[in-house]
Amino acid sequence: MTRKAPRGRRAAELLDQAAMVRIDTTDDYTIDVSNRLRRLPPYLFGRLNAMKHALRQGGADIIDLGMGNPRDATPQIVVDKLCEAAQEPRNHRYSVSTGLFNLRREAARYYQRLWDVDLDPEDEIIATIGSKEGFSHLCLALLGSGDTALVPSPAFPIHVYAVALAGANVISVPLSEDQDEFVGHIVYALEHIYPRPKVLILNFPHNPTTMTVELGFYEEIVRIAKRFGILVISDLAYAETTFDGYQAPSFLQVPGAKDVGCEFITMSKQFNMAGWRIGFCAGHPEMVRALAKIKGYYDYGIFQALQIAAIIAFRHCGGLAREQAEVYQRRRDCLCRGLQRIGWDVKPPKASMFAWVPIPEPWCEMGSIEFALKLMREAEVAVAPGRGFGENGEGYLRIALVENEDRIRQAVRQIKHALG
Ligand SMILES: Cc1ncc(COP(=O)(O)O)c(C=O)c1O
Repeated sequence: MTRKAPRGRRAAELLDQAAMVRIDTTDDYTIDVSNRLRRLPPYLFGRLNAMKHALRQGGADIIDLGMGNPRDATPQIVVDKLCEAAQEPRNHRYSVSTGLFNLRREAARYYQRLWDVDLDPEDEIIATIGSKEGFSHLCLALLGSGDTALVPSPAFPIHVYAVALAGANVISVPLSEDQDEFVGHIVYALEHIYPRPKVLILNFPHNPTTMTVELGFYEEIVRIAKRFGILVISDLAYAETTFDGYQAPSFLQVPGAKDVGCEFITMSKQFNMAGWRIGFCAGHPEMVRALAKIKGYYDYGIFQALQIAAIIAFRHCGGLAREQAEVYQRRRDCLCRGLQRIGWDVKPPKASMFAWVPIPEPWCEMGSIEFALKLMREAEVAVAPGRGFGENGEGYLRIALVENEDRIRQAVRQIKHALG
């Protein structure tokens, strides 16, 4: 193992400090924070992050496959455009909170190109400060005290917390690979919960489980939404991060989908622009208008030079998403084959930038948080414990494909060495 583990007393102190960091910091306030904040559950990644930090301070070279933070560079042409646009004083002013019209038009063209979906950039698309911000504010615009949202579980954390922050209730719907069963759970919840849930949140390709769906699933969902009078929010963050010829459908492809819901896409993954914070909400004009209204109060839009550079990304970097997906696919193969070789039962994902891996037999009793801590401490590999995505994530690890193939191979070697 080419690693520098923390040594001696200093290392022991650092590890002790990491072990002592409390998971739940929400009760630590001496000030009177809002109930909204108090309602937020403990931060489950806290101990892992503290340990990662402590080990790194001690000189360890942690291979970080924890967070889905793309490390590859934004296309140079986009960066150059940002530099050029940043020189222009008129781009230094507040921008429009809904996003430049030309940017929204590019997003509409993107939908047209990928899914043959027609969207009016004027009132069916709004730019957001990344899809996470847009999603959170849309929840605030649609949900409040006494309202309920159905959220598949396990879930990308903001799909739960944004509902909680809006003061509404979350009803977890167990995610199931068997789509009939999953749809059955949704219908059952809609038939039995009173007052009837207002919003259904979907996210396919799914983070963290990597589950994918076909268009028929969304057709069914649109029928259900119409039958029960609910709104659908689809998070399509991994629209083009798909493998082996699989193409992710858009919820908006279904005729009539715009009458019952909207969808978020992001430039974070497809264009390697995670730090730039640009996403879009598209679809139901009233949902878009509700989001625009709340954003009009909260923000002044994305830095205009960024928006101009994002237009260039749409116009000139259409092929990048495919190339980038191929990069993720090679990393996926490298990780999955490596783990399979050491006896782990790993199913290669069809999409997303993760592998969702059951904890191998001798360690499943340990629970995902303790096992992830063990991997970090003994193999110097950081992964996300499934429990961090809700109770139904227990028993799994989410491994992000964010390091290059050599580092991924190294990670597998270190895991093999550490677990014996
Ligand atoms: C399912 C899902 N939605 C949204 C996001 C956040 O996207 P953005 O960078 O546009 O806020 C992520 C990022 O990991 C994600 O996995």
